[in-house]
Amino acid sequence: MDSRENLREELRMIVREFKGHLVAGMDSPRRVSNLYLKGGDFSAEAVDRPVTLEDIRQELGNCQRCSLHQGRNNIVFGEGDPDADLVFVGEAPGADEDIQGRPFVGRAGQLFTKIIAAMGLTREEVYICNILKCRPPENRNPRPEEIRACEPFLIKQLQAIKPEVICALGTFAAHTLLDTNVPISVLRGKFHSYQGIKFMPTYHPAYLLRNPGAKRQVWEDVQMIMKVL
Ligand code: URA
Repeated sequence: MDSRENLREELRMIVREFKGHLVAGMDSPRRVSNLYLKGGDFSAEAVDRPVTLEDIRQELGNCQRCSLHQGRNNIVFGEGDPDADLVFVGEAPGADEDIQGRPFVGRAGQLFTKIIAAMGLTREEVYICNILKCRPPENRNPRPEEIRACEPFLIKQLQAIKPEVICALGTFAAHTLLDTNVPISVLRGKFHSYQGIKFMPTYHPAYLLRNPGAKRQVWEDVQMIMKVL
């Protein structure tokens, strides 16, 4: 990296950190969000309680913040351990996920579940979610306005869980969270930082279904994660 690219990367990092603080509820994620979430309950108990995933789900409600609500069957909020050390972030629900309201339950999801098992973990021990919570029609790529509407909820989920490691599944999650266009083939295989959390990009399970040869690299990436956990 030359010094201009270094500077650019540093600026991107500052913007990411700043965005996280803003989204978290203007200052402390506890105080402001709790007051907002609980309809202005100013009691000490309400103010001091940390924001939970249930609070965030409640705030999301029957979301109509972008047009994807028109075609969805279910919001796919995310599932797993609210105290997980490891959070996986995918792109967006597909047809199976939209029907069941659960992330990664289709064909790619089955392969993904095997990857988790190979790590010696279960789906219940990690947390699994996506950049978008509603299925884009025909599984097209998420649009900027959809990301803008949905990403604040993902950021709040990550701040509530406070994992040791985030694993981005695929180009889309890695590019969105790292705010970069560097190819996933370059990003993967090393830890980055997202809001001070170790961040490992790897290939999406759907890509592995089409390119089984890439499983070896995903295995290398998840082994690096396992060493940290
Ligand atoms: N692909 C994703 O990115 N997320 C899912 O939940 C399912 C498939």
